Amino acid sequence: METCFVNLIEPGDTVIVCQNGVFGSHMKENTERAGASVVMVEDEWGTAVDLNKVEEALKANPGAKALAFVHAETSTGVLYCLTPRPCAPLLPNTVPYLLLMR
Ligand SMILES: Cc1ncc(COP(=O)(O)O)c(C=O)c1O
Repeated sequence: METCFVNLIEPGDTVIVCQNGVFGSHMKENTERAGASVVMVEDEWGTAVDLNKVEEALKANPGAKALAFVHAETSTGVLYCLTPRPCAPLLPNTVPYLLLMR
């Protein structure tokens, strides 16, 4: 995870970080250590982050460099089902990178 963040994220960047467990907080720490600003999208631990909130964050931060979320949040066992409502169609015009942790 850290390798991914420190190689892609630079000071001055903005990263939208989804948090619904322990590893989301690690992504926040990695982003801050890389010198970037963090926009948090949080939900209850044990549930998936609401994709409507993600969509709002993407629209509110058009200059964000990355959207980061934990596909399989092993601290709680939550696995995102990305097929029915993928946010991928939003990405080409919003953020250069989708950081998907597993
Ligand atoms: C979601 C998730 N689960 C498990 C791990 C592995 O964690 P650890 O190396 O502390 O066992 C990581 C590492 O980044 C992760 O992102």
